[in-house]
Amino acid sequence: MWQTIAWMTRPGAFMAAVHARYGDPATIRTYWTEEPMVLFSSPDAVRAVFRLDPAIAPAGQSWEFLRPFAGPHSILLLDGDEHLRERRLMQGPFHGERMRAFAPMIAQLARAELETWHGRVVALERMRELTLEIILRVVFGARGDDEVAGLRAAIEDALGTVRSLPWVLAMAVVRKDLGPRSPWGGFRAAVERFDATLFELLTRRRARPGGDDSMLSVLLHQRDEDGQAPSDQHLRDQLVALLVGGHDSSAASLAWAFERLARHPLAQERLREGDPAYLDAVVKEVLRVRPALTIAPRLLLEPVEIAGYRIPAGAQVAACLWLACRREDLWGGAGEFRPERWLAPHQAASNPMSWIPFGGGVRRCAGAPFAEMEMREVLRAASGLNLRPASAEPERARRSMLVLVPHRGAEVFVG
Ligand code: HEM
Repeated sequence: MWQTIAWMTRPGAFMAAVHARYGDPATIRTYWTEEPMVLFSSPDAVRAVFRLDPAIAPAGQSWEFLRPFAGPHSILLLDGDEHLRERRLMQGPFHGERMRAFAPMIAQLARAELETWHGRVVALERMRELTLEIILRVVFGARGDDEVAGLRAAIEDALGTVRSLPWVLAMAVVRKDLGPRSPWGGFRAAVERFDATLFELLTRRRARPGGDDSMLSVLLHQRDEDGQAPSDQHLRDQLVALLVGGHDSSAASLAWAFERLARHPLAQERLREGDPAYLDAVVKEVLRVRPALTIAPRLLLEPVEIAGYRIPAGAQVAACLWLACRREDLWGGAGEFRPERWLAPHQAASNPMSWIPFGGGVRRCAGAPFAEMEMREVLRAASGLNLRPASAEPERARRSMLVLVPHRGAEVFVG
């Protein structure tokens, strides 16, 4: 129970303490998973975790709790060949030129948001709004304020339940759907309302000749190996995977960027100079020093050997993204926010298994190029702001469902 509380409320300090006391690997036991979880952070062990055969170390089960929302075709839940097939299909919108075409719309939405920033701002709240707006307009292709508002309400209705800790605990205790007033019944009803709104959107988009400049438009043109177009249910599951994968993670990472920048006026000054290499360095450093997701877990169906340790079937093994990105032996001054380190020519090419905010292997974040581009666009739009921290004490990390967020929501003063 203590480990669960520490994992939820002080995850950064908890992982650091576990690492300091037990080294690498270390086993934790929390209510988060039924099984004990072995955390690895050394580059060789991390590589070995990412290379595990999905037939003996599937990853899809860690999203199982989201199945009623994610849907049967979801890339998040699939493993093995089905997962790879789905990944190939979803890769379309993330290719170079096509992806860069989304940048102007993101920049425009970011500018509109940041223009409203004066005085005290809780950046996490604002970034949750902005990244959802970006997903609705750029990914879902929603047009017009009514369409955006309808989708936003349906998503908040469905995700509101799984974001509330008491509600999730109630769902974990009462595992059955006992009607619309029960936790599962309420969730199912919210998902049904969400699906109805999304299917209406798909009908409208299919009727629009020529498509538009959204990701959905690209996904509508995908064809599987047999030349078949995706069904509405399949498209719906893809959009939900992009929403679940891309919303909270991007909002949390951007909130951390504001929390860190507010405490580093020199970095703000350099950002203002407009050097694209420095902007990129800020993004990389935020993702390193405050990775939004802490682990990439896999459930072992058979025993395996990793870095000389034999781990039995039935355990979870995880590449610990947080510890790997903050190992003192790999990153000098690992806990410090120092974008400059990325400007040194050898840094970017140093061990790729120690900068893993997007995970790795066949399940590496499918939206990573989009996420980095989104962060660059938002921070470029914010580079004219003068940010100051609302309190002298840096914000520690707390868990908000799957991601780590600043515990006061990245409270800053603007102006
Ligand atoms: C800074 C923001 C983001 C971070 C830190 C992040 C991180 C991650 C991580 C750690 C994983 C799991 C990797 C593993 O298990 O090995 C993941 C998976 C995924 N992410 Fe992201 N992500 C971000 C943004 C996005 C965005 C913007 C999208 C889409 C628009 C996205 C879509 C996905 C999808 C679809 C998966 C599942 C991939 C699979 O199972 O094959 N992510 N992400």
